[in-house]
Amino acid sequence: MVELLPSILSADFAHLAEQVAAAGRGGGTVVHVDVMDGHFVPNITLGPPLVKSLRKATRLPIDCHLMIENADEFIPAFAEAGADWVSVHYEACRHLHRTLQLIAQHGMKPAVVVNPATRVDFLVDILPMVHHVLVMSVNPGFGGQKFIDFSLDKIRRLVVLRQELGLAFRIEVDGGVAHDTVARVVQAGADLLVAGSAVFGAGQPERDARSLLAAAREAAGEQVE
Ligand code: DX5
Ligand code: ZN
Repeated sequence: MVELLPSILSADFAHLAEQVAAAGRGGGTVVHVDVMDGHFVPNITLGPPLVKSLRKATRLPIDCHLMIENADEFIPAFAEAGADWVSVHYEACRHLHRTLQLIAQHGMKPAVVVNPATRVDFLVDILPMVHHVLVMSVNPGFGGQKFIDFSLDKIRRLVVLRQELGLAFRIEVDGGVAHDTVARVVQAGADLLVAGSAVFGAGQPERDARSLLAAAREAAGEQVE
């Protein structure tokens, strides 16, 4: 089943609770929160205090995408704040296995993220530990960038690896997922679709989440109500 994860990076932060509720009415099922530290990526965004407020404002699971260098130091704070899923970058974790264990030990679902330049084959040994793999289809740091087409090959490769290894991790895609790309993303095998500007960019999150999800479901061959 394909799910839509609205990325609040493109939301109006002064009206965040309403914006998230609207995206949820439009069919969003998980809230995607982009955490940036100004070191691993050239931008600074949100942290545990925002997650704590959001936790009170929505019942949807909160997916924290950590684009930070010292994830281990902050995992307890994200757990405390109420995060449900936490993903960390392969490129940012010196001891990725330890970091994924730490996330699980704190009661959250661990996931690994790969940048466009990273081969998914490097993940083989830790795939049994993850709830999902997040494929970046733009270079992380900003919303509204152009989808990088060869990300589709990474998604297809992950589908093959999952089958070969007999695993059940999910495949999430983040960056440039919009009306013009969503069908190809879904057909390549992704089932967790992050979308920021396509949901919040026009100020109509309910309408735009609904239409994007409908396009995704149609591409997946799912029944659209
Ligand atoms: C970028 C973030 C994304 C961002 C996607 O580093 O990880 O989650 O919000 O934005 P769009 O959907 O606009 O490409
Ligand atoms: Zn993200």
